[in-house]
Amino acid sequence: MQPAPQHLIRDMRSGDLATVVAIERNAHISPWGRISFEESLNQGHICRCIWQHQALLAYSVVQRIEDELHILNVVVTPSEQGQGWAHVLMNDIFTVAQNDRVKTVFLDVRESNTKAQSLYKKWGFGLLAVRKQYYRAPVANERENALVFMRTL
Ligand SMILES: CC(C)(COP(=O)(O)OP(=O)(O)OC[C@H]1O[C@@H](n2cnc3c(N)ncnc32)[C@H](O)[C@@H]1OP(=O)(O)O)[C@@H](O)C(=O)NCCC(=O)NCCS
Repeated sequence: MQPAPQHLIRDMRSGDLATVVAIERNAHISPWGRISFEESLNQGHICRCIWQHQALLAYSVVQRIEDELHILNVVVTPSEQGQGWAHVLMNDIFTVAQNDRVKTVFLDVRESNTKAQSLYKKWGFGLLAVRKQYYRAPVANERENALVFMRTL
């Protein structure tokens, strides 16, 4: 992990969504649409973004349910990947978790997404379950397993 240079982390706003959706389309196999981000903001999910030099580099969307956090989305814009920004996002999520006395954090990740799995394992997550054929695969009519990861605090 590289130390992250000067940056700002703040709550996502509706004015950020055009940029967020553009990053999402470039970064994800099955990108969220604008409506999913709007619903997340409206439902009070914890939506955070990292800015540096007026550029939005990365964002996360996390749902709080009682004493659980569910990480719904974690993205670093492709041109900025591999520089430690995902660690910065995870650090922000776990700061919230510790301040809010969260007991368990969950997430789903595609079986093929080994990069994200490596990130989550570094943050202490372990495999809880496999949801068979959960995701639509990039190849038409095929499905892909989801790995459910969990970490207790
Ligand atoms: C997964 C993702 C968020 C990682 O972002 P990133 O900026 O590249 O990550 P970082 O540079 O902070 O690295 C964090 C960790 O990710 C893993 N990682 C990053 N690049 C990797 C690579 N090329 N190969 C394997 N693991 C890699 C490593 O564990 C790394 O930790 P380390 O640097 O201490 O070894 C990014 O690839 C992304 O946005 N992908 C598309 C969206 C997505 O799949 N999100 C996760 C959904 S569950």
